[in-house]
Amino acid sequence: MEATQKKDSNQITREYFDRLLLEMRHIDNVMPDTEVKLLGERFSMPIATAALSHLNGTTENGMAKMAEGAALAEALCFSGMGEREELADMCRTGAKVIKIIKPHADNATVFEKIRQAEEDGAFGVGMDIDHAFNGQGDYDVVVGLPMKPKSSEELRSFIQATKLPFIIKGVLSVTDAKKALELGAAGIIVSHHHGIMDYAVPPLMVLPEIAKVINGRIPIFVDCCIESGMDVFKALALGADAVCVGRAIMGPLKDNGAEGVRDTFLRMQKELKGVMARTGFGKISAIEGSVIRKRDF
Ligand SMILES: Cc1cc2nc3c(=O)[nH]c(=O)nc-3n(C[C@H](O)[C@H](O)[C@H](O)COP(=O)(O)O)c2cc1C
Repeated sequence: MEATQKKDSNQITREYFDRLLLEMRHIDNVMPDTEVKLLGERFSMPIATAALSHLNGTTENGMAKMAEGAALAEALCFSGMGEREELADMCRTGAKVIKIIKPHADNATVFEKIRQAEEDGAFGVGMDIDHAFNGQGDYDVVVGLPMKPKSSEELRSFIQATKLPFIIKGVLSVTDAKKALELGAAGIIVSHHHGIMDYAVPPLMVLPEIAKVINGRIPIFVDCCIESGMDVFKALALGADAVCVGRAIMGPLKDNGAEGVRDTFLRMQKELKGVMARTGFGKISAIEGSVIRKRDF
């Protein structure tokens, strides 16, 4: 049976974004600066490409073009699953690329992919822990590759196997955020993987509680349904250090390649600056949640 629209976590997430309203604050304002430092590196904006994959199917060298677009915008780039050569191509663009590895059933595959990412010049690695089961009571199989859930011990062994920062993607609870921190993750991505499960909590709904637990010790990224600088601002105000944008860059990538990705990021950066200017925040690190009001009428 087809899932009804109402159950769709993407729709619920979009509605949640749209219920968040902002105070305006004007006195003593300055021209905002969107520069950020993430994982020890400077970026022009707190906006990264999401861990997308399979873009070479819709755009020639789509993965490398996505990375090139991020590099042109001086933004961080996450990459999803894919062949080794794809990641090497992405790294050659000069982008800072974090390779998100699938929770492959066979841990030897995970260790091998970590080693390859190191050799090919990735900026970081990580795992989308939310892709282990398929929602039908079985383990997931992604393009023919079997997946399995990872224990704390297994995740710790991946983290300890590399000097690169290791990012845990698919955290959507305080429970997992606490575990990720304890295990030594270098960062987390709060995400429901564009609606991998119906009725998943909107990332921004659980974000303030996660931010409280993380308490600034590691960067918190957020993705799912981020389309504008206004969305970015709301995520930052509720506790994110940066966001990832996936589907919103896919059309521009297809139409205009790397420049399409760059221009989308520059547009979102301008929108973010516009919101910061009217809410009284001169820099990204100053943005905080008291500016947000939740629509209740
Ligand atoms: C075409 C496509 C491929 C994706 N591949 C991966 C992947 O390989 N690994 C991963 O962790 N997430 C993957 N994702 C999920 C994104 O990283 C992201 O979590 C999700 O799309 C939500 O962000 P968005 O709403 O901005 O698209 C993929 C998403 C799309 C649309």
